[in-house]
Amino acid sequence: MITKFIKDIFSEKTDEFIFYSSTGEDLYLDKEAGLYIHIPFCKSMCPYCPYYKVFYNKELSQRFKSSLISEIKEYSKKLGKKYFTSLYIGGGTPTLLIEDLEIILKEIRNCFELNEIIAIETTPGDITRDKINILKDIGINYISLGVQSFQQKYLTLIGRNYTSDRAINAVKLLKDRDFDTFNIDLIFAYPGENLPELLKDLQTTVSFSPDQITCYPLFTFPYSTIGKYKKIKKLKMPSHFVRRKMYYLIHDFLEEHGYKRSSVWSFNRKKTKPYSSVTRDYYIGFGPSAASYTGKGFYFNTFSIDEYLKTVKQRKPIASEMKVSKKMEKLFWLYWRLYETVIPIKRYKKSFGEDIYADFGMVLRTIKAFGFVQSEDDGSIVLNKRGCLWIHLAQNYFALNYVSKIWSAFQKNPWPGRIKL
Ligand SMILES: C[S@@+](CC[C@H](N)C(=O)[O-])C[C@H]1O[C@@H](n2cnc3c(N)ncnc32)[C@H](O)[C@@H]1O
Ligand code: SF4
Repeated sequence: MITKFIKDIFSEKTDEFIFYSSTGEDLYLDKEAGLYIHIPFCKSMCPYCPYYKVFYNKELSQRFKSSLISEIKEYSKKLGKKYFTSLYIGGGTPTLLIEDLEIILKEIRNCFELNEIIAIETTPGDITRDKINILKDIGINYISLGVQSFQQKYLTLIGRNYTSDRAINAVKLLKDRDFDTFNIDLIFAYPGENLPELLKDLQTTVSFSPDQITCYPLFTFPYSTIGKYKKIKKLKMPSHFVRRKMYYLIHDFLEEHGYKRSSVWSFNRKKTKPYSSVTRDYYIGFGPSAASYTGKGFYFNTFSIDEYLKTVKQRKPIASEMKVSKKMEKLFWLYWRLYETVIPIKRYKKSFGEDIYADFGMVLRTIKAFGFVQSEDDGSIVLNKRGCLWIHLAQNYFALNYVSKIWSAFQKNPWPGRIKL
């Protein structure tokens, strides 16, 4: 019922969500925004991973670096020396290009103004003391480590290329170096996982007191290896009932240990700033498969590294665009505020000049009628534990239906043409 409701408000009751072929010539940004760089290289391919990546090789990575710099310069010609609020470097495994990051950052700083958040993600299989020293030296101040689990059994199940000891060592090395925000990613709801096992992972994680802990349920995207495996072998995933218990366990345990929810999936220690690569209102993305969102259009770069390298020589590597109406822009805004589990009413008025109840009165009244709200004043609406659970389920639905549909179309065809969601 909730997912149908979300689907109704996000698609059928508004303009159609359709991507068309585009070269992004009309891309224009007049708002405060963030930057994203997608580094599409990994040394091993995790079977559950939905992101665009190819096997690392030095020669290809050097051609990629030159193309990335060309792409950054191409944007700076249009945007001028624009100020950006943050830079997130994701992937893939960005720290595989450790020797190139300094020059990439230098180029970003030559082209744009950037002095707040410079964030990167990495994995225990790749991070070392020397790499951490380089990251600190070049000014990276936010870092996210994809541990997934501290239990060998689950690391093996999901095909990770490191041991639980190595994961613990990576956490200790990062903890020692005092980043502004250090996030640990965990995955839960593995096939066959039970509550005591999840609790064990949470206990190990809080024992290192990272600034932020992010717990994702295992998504089985239909086009990922694990998604196909699930279909063929009927891999037994935890039931909805067990997942709900897990979700509440995470919430209660982390709140008892001094963490406060900062999104449907993340919790932060007090006075720490969230590592969040997805919740910026507007952003420009570089690299294959990166997305850009300007408020007027949503753009995807081609997902193929070969096409990316070829195209960047002449123009931006954008493959598709969805025009965004004012109504859709407001919907996206609401979607990401629900993701953050707090709806700042006054900020809506400041951003859009309207009262949020005039635009989304029905949605907000429904959320309240379902008993999803913890508190409301004229500043913001804060969701409660139950509300967060349902938003998390709606996010799963959204990821598996909408995101999956776009990404699988792009993974099949570098220039996919029309995609209707
Ligand atoms: C871009 S990924 C990976 C960063 C890094 N390459 C790694 O593997 O640790 C960022 C995070 O997304 C999460 N993630 C990736 N695929 C997922 C899936 N199928 N289900 C749930 N979480 C997933 C993982 O927690 C991961 O740390
Ligand atoms: S999960 Fe991380 S390391 Fe594994 S394939 Fe995906 S991006 Fe690469």
